[in-house]
Amino acid sequence: MAILFISDIDDPQAWQRELSRRLGPIDFRVWPELGDPAEIEVALVWRPPPGLLARLPRLRLIQALSAGVDALLADPTLPDVPLCRMVDASLTTTMVEFVTTVVLFFHRDLDHYARQQRAAIWRQRPPQPAAATRVGLMGLGVLGRAVAERLTGLGFTVRGWSRTRHALEGVTTFAGADGLAPFLGGCDILICLLPLTPATEGILDARLFAALPPGAVVVNVGRGRHLVAQDLLDALDRGRLRAAWLDVFADEPLPPDHPFWRHPRIHLTPHVAAWTHPESAADVVVDNLRRLEAGAPLRYRVDRRRGY
Ligand code: NAP
Ligand code: GLV
Repeated sequence: MAILFISDIDDPQAWQRELSRRLGPIDFRVWPELGDPAEIEVALVWRPPPGLLARLPRLRLIQALSAGVDALLADPTLPDVPLCRMVDASLTTTMVEFVTTVVLFFHRDLDHYARQQRAAIWRQRPPQPAAATRVGLMGLGVLGRAVAERLTGLGFTVRGWSRTRHALEGVTTFAGADGLAPFLGGCDILICLLPLTPATEGILDARLFAALPPGAVVVNVGRGRHLVAQDLLDALDRGRLRAAWLDVFADEPLPPDHPFWRHPRIHLTPHVAAWTHPESAADVVVDNLRRLEAGAPLRYRVDRRRGY
């Protein structure tokens, strides 16, 4: 079985090493060195060129290197074979670390102190207990739940919103369109950890910002197209929102002339909130390869109709 690896951010040599360590010698091809397309049965991918996978006549599995599969599903020629997403300890741990760091950054007023330093202002802001900061998680999936657990452990007041209702210890939960406004009304820091689907595209817009408490912070670690850029700029410039932390963008890399780069209340990182490390994630891929061979149900299969 030949495996085709396509990614411009993941290290193909590390992936080949980790897969071979578990499987023995493998036929591992790195795009654009395709070889005979008819020999490729598995595609291990992050954002492959649209149309490429349709050129593989014997493809049996598309295994994403990512949790989000919106880019794959946006390809109208995507072959009708099982599509699985990445659920992996390194991905979850890095996301939990990142969101916790950002929440603590705002909770401890480090954005205010950075501004004060630039103006040589010595003004102490007494730290508040974590429970005084209400953190809202949009998305209570694998990543949202792990983040919720860490934040409740640190003492934050946590609420979560999802498509279907979930019961999570220590978290006030809301669901569906009717639950959105009541959820938003109690979020001092809002974290978007949703998948990008037709239902969630553009969800971070003026209407949503207006439903947040005045002075709230918006953190987007989902996908860039969740956010309506001009609505965010307007809400920040009117003082409706305190700040935003953005890790994902509609166009990546973010173009150098984009206003987000220089906005004084926008903090940004280049899509690094979470990372899939082959040292652990190869276990997930190998498990699915063995299941594929055995005709067993695959893990983390995407429901294409639902879009995640
Ligand atoms: P997941 O396990 O599939 O969870 C998705 C969550 O979103 C579920 O709770 C789901 O609700 C909820 N949801 C989906 N559509 C919704 C809707 N229309 N309204 C309300 N809630 C909705 O996904 P995950 O593994 O946690 O990953 C989430 C996303 O994070 C990924 O899709 C990706 O875009 C993003 N991500 C970003 C990075 C980064 O580095 N920035 C890294 C990894 C992932 P139900 O529970 O009811 O189904
Ligand atoms: C990264 O953005 C992922 O979806 O894993």
